[in-house]
Amino acid sequence: MKKEIHQFSYEVYDSAEDLTPADAALLNKAKEVTAQAYAPYSRFRVGAAAKLDNGQVVTGTNQENASFPAGICAERVLMSTASSLYPGIPINTLAVSYHNENGSSGSPISPCGICRQSLQEFEQRMGKPIRLLLGGEKGPVYVIPQSSLLLPFAFTADEL
Ligand code: THU
Repeated sequence: MKKEIHQFSYEVYDSAEDLTPADAALLNKAKEVTAQAYAPYSRFRVGAAAKLDNGQVVTGTNQENASFPAGICAERVLMSTASSLYPGIPINTLAVSYHNENGSSGSPISPCGICRQSLQEFEQRMGKPIRLLLGGEKGPVYVIPQSSLLLPFAFTADEL
């Protein structure tokens, strides 16, 4: 028997003001589009904005449904949009922000399990890591170099 350790490193910034101007602008875009979320059930508005390798910026917001499981997270809306409008173009950086109408929005959120799975496959398809900027309306920002780091032991297309 041997023990293995899985770990990864990421950057923590005290606030969006400490990011590069390009990263700060992308996170700000994610914050801005939270206004376009359709979240009447959770009242938790999530916005995502991504810079693609062709320079285009694509956004997504959570889109809920009275049949709750039919709702889609901002990150997956964004990936579907990116892949539909610009097929084959990798995502360089994806920023996520949110506005919680029920409480505060001052610490980063990170993608749910289903989104992690989808992010992993997007990365694998494109052969390129997706850098994540995770923030709230204010407060610290996490910069994660590769989204698949959030899903160790992922089930992937390689297994099929
Ligand atoms: N949600 C996202 O859109 N992205 C996340 O990273 C976390 C959660 C959405 C799903 C649902 O519409 C609402 O936030 C509350 O869970």
